[in-house]
Parts: sequence; C-alpha cells; structure tokens
Amino acid sequence: MSKKMIIANWKMNPLTSKEAEKLFTGVAKEVSTIKKTEIAICPPSIYLDILKKIRTSKIKLGAQDAFYGDMGAFTGEVSAQMLYNIGAKYVILGHSERRAQGETNVFINKKIKSALDASLIPILCVGENIRDENHGYFNLVKMQLEECLSGISKNSVSKIIIAYEPVWAISTTVNRKDATSADSLEMAIFIRKILSDKFGPEASKMRIIYGGSVNEKDCADFLKNGGVDGLLAGRASLDAKKFVEIIKICEASSK
Ligand code: 13P
Repeated sequence: MSKKMIIANWKMNPLTSKEAEKLFTGVAKEVSTIKKTEIAICPPSIYLDILKKIRTSKIKLGAQDAFYGDMGAFTGEVSAQMLYNIGAKYVILGHSERRAQGETNVFINKKIKSALDASLIPILCVGENIRDENHGYFNLVKMQLEECLSGISKNSVSKIIIAYEPVWAISTTVNRKDATSADSLEMAIFIRKILSDKFGPEASKMRIIYGGSVNEKDCADFLKNGGVDGLLAGRASLDAKKFVEIIKICEASSK
C-alpha cells in the first residue's frame, strides 16, 4: 500500500511571498524525520518558484488549478505544463471553490487529461454542497466522477488522487457542519465502488483522501476510521504548527 498523504491547500493565501516563505519553512524544518507520510503543499502558483528554492526533499509542491493545453491564447491562465516546468508535482482540479465559479465536469475532464499529459498528478475534488434526505448526493458524486474521469485510460488512472470534500463541511461555508469519519468512510466506500466498476483492478491503486475542516484534533479519527489514504487541509495548513501536528499524527498512525 502506498504512503498516506497530507496535502495543504493554501487557497488564496498568504498575502506576500515573505509570509509564504515563512509558512513553508516553518513546516519544512519540522518534517525532516518524516518517512511514512507524503507531504504536498499547494500555494498560489505565483509562489511556486520561490518555494521551490527552499531545500527540502520531504515536501512536494502542487498547484491549485491548471488550464488545458500547453500554451496559447488563454488570457490569465497557466497551463499544466508550465506548472510542471516550474516545479509542481501535483495539481488540485475541480475544487468546489472553482466549481462555484462555473467550472463544469466537462471542463475539469479536459484539465485532468492535460495535467496527466504534463506529468502532473491530479487531485480531483468531488463533493456535494448539501446532504438531502433522499441521498441524491451519492448520484451527484457519481456523476462528478464519471464525467471528470471520462476517457481517462486505465493505465493512467492509478496516478489520480480523489479528494472527497463535502462543501457543507468546509471551514468557510456559511452555517457549516462538521463531517464525521463515518461520513467519510461511507463516501470513500461508495467512491471506491464507482472507480472499480469503471476502471477494474487498477482502481485499487487510486488514493482517496478527505478534506473539509480537518484539523489537528480530528485528523487521527479521519485517518483511522474515515476509509481514506490521506487528508487535504485548508485553514489548518495556514498555521505551520497545526499542519506539522497533522503530519506527525499521520506519521504515527502509519504502519
Ligand atoms: P478547510 O480545511 O479550510 O475546510 O478547506 C478544505 C478545502 O477546501 C481543502 O481543499
């Protein structure tokens, strides 16, 4: 089994490159002994170049989005190939905060294919906005997976990481609720079934992680009981101490 992953999504933070360096260094200096956990930090892409220069073999860099194609007339966009060239290894795609701005499954699908072509590892975010009584959210997640992964070959599917992020549990969602490790487990099982129906045995190599207000207090429970291979942290990753604590808890929980 592959290592567990702890991934930071800094979102549109922090405000300056100095603060970004400080936050990154604050994590890097505490994780030199980590062996059983993969760590990735996804800052705003403008900071990738500076952070790449901070020496650490323990932390990989990722981006929070990547446009399809290599280059061309796409004002304001950055391609997967450009991000790879600058040192990114991962890219978050289909985050709910981008979907809220109109990003569709079809569009995300194009981006996943481009990311794979550029040798970036896509972290595909799926998750429902609300939980309805009729359990329609299962169908929604199924559709997100099927449309976003449409036309992806069985050979490349093992590289893709699926992040289940229920939007109602994200720290910035108004009137948010806590998701439990049981919510995560139930959805992780469901996602695994869809992936294995679609891709066969190769699907067992795909990692499923959980995100939605994870913190240093509940991460052990999600890692132990949530049926997932890692965590995607937003707010908690903006505090070096808290993020390091999550990494160390993950490390201690890994066999
Ligand atoms: P929070 O941890 O702030 O809820 O963010 C989760 C998330 O959206 C990570 O991608």
